[in-house]
Amino acid sequence: MSEKTILVLGAGSGIGRSVATLFASKRFSNVVLIARRAEQLEVEKKALEEAIGAGKVNVKTYALDLTKSEDLLKALDDADATFGKPEVVFYNAARVLPSAFFEHSVEDIEYDLKINVSALYVVSQRYVPHLVELAKSDASSRPALIVTSSALPHHPIPQLFALSLVKAAQRNLVRSLSMTYTPEGVHIGVINVGGPVSPDDPERNPKRIAEKTWEWYDAAWAEPSFEVVI
Ligand SMILES: NC(=O)c1ccc[n+]([C@@H]2O[C@H](COP(=O)([O-])OP(=O)(O)OC[C@H]3O[C@@H](n4cnc5c(N)ncnc54)[C@H](OP(=O)(O)O)[C@@H]3O)[C@@H](O)[C@H]2O)c1
Repeated sequence: MSEKTILVLGAGSGIGRSVATLFASKRFSNVVLIARRAEQLEVEKKALEEAIGAGKVNVKTYALDLTKSEDLLKALDDADATFGKPEVVFYNAARVLPSAFFEHSVEDIEYDLKINVSALYVVSQRYVPHLVELAKSDASSRPALIVTSSALPHHPIPQLFALSLVKAAQRNLVRSLSMTYTPEGVHIGVINVGGPVSPDDPERNPKRIAEKTWEWYDAAWAEPSFEVVI
């Protein structure tokens, strides 16, 4: 068993679970799951262990709000001490909260900005230099920062204007990171999920999204591309 680690920020029963499970089955024996709800994290841990098989995956969970940087960094210190730093960072956290003009509060806009942009910046600050180092020091490594995005950066929905604008800012940040660090051997890009996700949707179901994400990640070293559109 390899000793590689994937860090999942925003672990839930949808895309978070499907990507964590597929990536664990392909390459990662250590999985770190972060989300706010401790109970749901236990469900996610069990689902992952059941899917991969007993003793074949090590899972650590941390219940915290990503917008609280101190809590986040403390948990990451513990995760890194336990498993070593990750080879893949998968940033998947978001909330879908309707935002009507002009009832929506500025605090709610700022909270979404913190989830999608500020916390992603904190995570990038911590791990991108490490991923660059990994790319340089180990030719067999496949270091990556993968962020779940959507059609909202290009096609805002006024009833979701807050999420639309922070997703646009997030994509912009990831693009800048990719322009800077993909030439240094780190695969950085977005999964562009172009509509609502549902287990019953033939295209945008979590299982297919994970498969397409894996194909894109796996192909990145021969043919790097910023996004996979699903
Ligand atoms: N679902 C869709 O229809 C859809 C469509 C297009 C794009 N996307 C994108 O896909 C990603 C999410 O995938 P998903 O919808 O399938 O969800 P998911 O993987 O089931 O779960 C994502 C998890 O993120 C966690 N999270 C949210 N805010 C957080 C915070 N402040 N701190 C820590 N964890 C937080 C939530 O858990 P807690 O509540 O326990 O914190 C949530 O369960 C997002 O980037 C979203 O924009 C989703």
